Amino acid sequence: MRTPLIVGNWKMNKTASEAASFVRELLGKLTVSPKVELVLAPPFTALESVRLTLGPSSKIGLGAQNLHWEPQGAFTGEISALMLRDLACTYVIIGHSERRNLFGEQDDAIRKKVGAALKHELRPILCVGESLVERESNCTEALVTGQLAAGLSGLSARELSAVTIAYEPIWAVGTGRAATTEQAVAVHCAIRAYVASGWSKQAADGIRILYGGSVTPQNAELLLTAQEIDGALVGGACLKSESFATIIDASLKKPGH
Ligand code: PGA
Repeated sequence: MRTPLIVGNWKMNKTASEAASFVRELLGKLTVSPKVELVLAPPFTALESVRLTLGPSSKIGLGAQNLHWEPQGAFTGEISALMLRDLACTYVIIGHSERRNLFGEQDDAIRKKVGAALKHELRPILCVGESLVERESNCTEALVTGQLAAGLSGLSARELSAVTIAYEPIWAVGTGRAATTEQAVAVHCAIRAYVASGWSKQAADGIRILYGGSVTPQNAELLLTAQEIDGALVGGACLKSESFATIIDASLKKPGH
């Protein structure tokens, strides 16, 4: 049984002090349950204040939105896995479509980032997803499996077991137009089949595949109760405590959990 995972990707929102008051407010509204794992991914500059506000025994995890693959060195403006580990991060988002499209991140860099995260015991959340043009030209599956092949290449089954995949169609990210449950499930099945063929059925059954792209309190239940959807990577709707809490409650309705 895969434990659902809900990740709040704050993107470039909230200062460190805003983050602390937001987390205090969120803690008053959230249902924290062992049935669903929760992770907050604030900007680097707010990781420490979120960590301190959550407290040392919090069940809510901390994630970063990016990292550099080297442990340290002359890489102005970059942040390493070691630095994130030292701030108690356990997850890191890698290859988000905004990183790929706005900052020119390529598959090779993404593969190195996945490797660096695993080496330092950070769990990568590898984002994949097609553009609207690619979907309309029936290239979704080829595109997504190509991104998986690049991002996961060379990983052992043990390494892969620490990886989460986030299927985020680019046309759904920040647009208010989420994929339908059927569209998401079809791609999730293709991702699982890719993992089964590259590693094993056991690896495929174990890997968590999140959906991301305009998840809202209104559509969360329909998406998150689908058997194939193991949680969500939430952008816009995680910035308001009420809507994030509602999405988490929706994930608790998953049958069999
Ligand atoms: P969105 O963003 O929920 O605002 O569409 C999702 C993401 O980018 O991870």
